[in-house]
Amino acid sequence: MIVAPSLLAANFAKLGEDIDMINRSNAAWVHCDVMDGVFVPNISFGFPVIKAVSALTDKPLDVHLMIVDPGRYVSQVRDCGATIMNVHYEACTHLHRTIQAIRAAGMKPAVTLNPATPVTLLQDIIEDLDMVLLMSVNPGFGGQSFIEHTIKKIKELRKLITETGSKTLIEIDGGINTVTGALVASAGADVLVAGNAVFSAANPLEEINSLASL
Ligand code: DX5
Ligand code: ZN
Repeated sequence: MIVAPSLLAANFAKLGEDIDMINRSNAAWVHCDVMDGVFVPNISFGFPVIKAVSALTDKPLDVHLMIVDPGRYVSQVRDCGATIMNVHYEACTHLHRTIQAIRAAGMKPAVTLNPATPVTLLQDIIEDLDMVLLMSVNPGFGGQSFIEHTIKKIKELRKLITETGSKTLIEIDGGINTVTGALVASAGADVLVAGNAVFSAANPLEEINSLASL
């Protein structure tokens, strides 16, 4: 599995040490959660922090924007070193335009769906996407419990991807540990985001490697 540890659960006072641990692990990407306090009821970190992270790792940055109208920030997200720009379906009025702008800026476009947003809404955009992120918790906070209904959505999304012949990856974010990670992997997921499971583990590096070997 592609594993993207979420920095939201890292120790911000010693972020460099946590990035160094990720660098030594089998994590493929680094997941950065940006929250604006409007789209979600929490505020996390923004571009200066992502830029600092980018300087400390060669692993691609998967930037998950939980903000209103993320299309306003395509060039800033690119300039702070993102490889993947992940925007919420619910936050974009002109999703197709935003996706084209992300690709034109040289990044990989991904669309995120909240737990209550159906997979079928992606049928006219799926072939333009490098990845779909299915939220398996309501966005805004780490450490929540995995919503079981996500399994059904993964299977539906896998079917849509197969039918259209697209190469879109399926990423799952929220409440992922080795137990829920195994469930979503067998349902058809490609990428696991994990915050608390990694950073609360006795050995975070081993936890990342366990998720990667699912
Ligand atoms: C939640 C964020 C997640 C969060 C996951 O809104 O998008 O990336 O860090 O945290 P865990 O893995 O603890 O559920
Ligand atoms: Zn996230």
